[in-house]
Amino acid sequence: MLKKVIVKAPATSANLGPCFDCLGVALNLYCKISIEKNSKDEICIKGICKDHIKKNADNLVMKIISAFCKKNKISRPKLKIEIDSDIPIGRGLGSSASAVVATLIACNNFFGLNYSKEELLNYALKFEPHPDNIAPSFFGGLVMSSYFEGEAFYYKFEEFKKYKDISFVVLIPEYFVYTQNARKFLTDTKKCKHENYVFGLSNSIANIIALSRGEFSSLNKTMNDTIWHQKQRKNTVKYMDEIIKSALAKGAYGASLSGSGPTIISICKNSKAKLVGESMKKVLDKKHIKSNYKILKLDNKGCVVN
Ligand code: HSE
Repeated sequence: MLKKVIVKAPATSANLGPCFDCLGVALNLYCKISIEKNSKDEICIKGICKDHIKKNADNLVMKIISAFCKKNKISRPKLKIEIDSDIPIGRGLGSSASAVVATLIACNNFFGLNYSKEELLNYALKFEPHPDNIAPSFFGGLVMSSYFEGEAFYYKFEEFKKYKDISFVVLIPEYFVYTQNARKFLTDTKKCKHENYVFGLSNSIANIIALSRGEFSSLNKTMNDTIWHQKQRKNTVKYMDEIIKSALAKGAYGASLSGSGPTIISICKNSKAKLVGESMKKVLDKKHIKSNYKILKLDNKGCVVN
């Protein structure tokens, strides 16, 4: 067992339009978690989430550590846990996925176990059932994932990192949308007309191919989602269409809801990032809804031990 371990895991943006529950990208905002031996259990929380994370036995990180110890028949020592995250909670940027990923990698190192990231990926899904957030947070980059009979598969597009001239501009409204609630609005795709279903599926595949090949000029079409989730989520995300439209008008290649929202993500050339961010923000400013935008870059490393 080590004395102390510090791990950081990146934020993620899932779905990227129509690739619902299967495509995600890792971004350079981080959740940092440290685990240290201590004379008593202690949880310290820093960063922008400090008012929103529980410090009691319900703390997600502590719960995962206890579950990990139980699974591996380790008697859990008293610990000091420090959580320091730049990833806003409840905004569609994978904040809980990054905490799960960082905690599992921290446990693996701290307790001297040798699980691979692939093995931990499956275990992580017990705590956070969205591989489209979990997989890119583990591995970094643009990652396609699927979940079949209790096992997750992932495919990282290794070439994607070479597209250095793109930024991911995220508009983060001040209000929260919790994924569990947002998923209640999803409609049963069995009720979807055959032609719509085919359109949705082919558009998702086109979006994955366009992104992975760096054919960004197709994104204004392929990042549209009218079938799987975006349309339904207009109930929970304010002025989504207007924000997306304003980003495209300022030259973004494509824009969509990030995860279950309310953040909107735009992909654009580095030189257009500020203009795109300002213009998205202006839409909410006019409606008196507070927001801020960040210009983010791809994280290609995924979760790392410091
Ligand atoms: N794919 C999931 C959803 C991601 O959209 O509900 C949650 O961030």
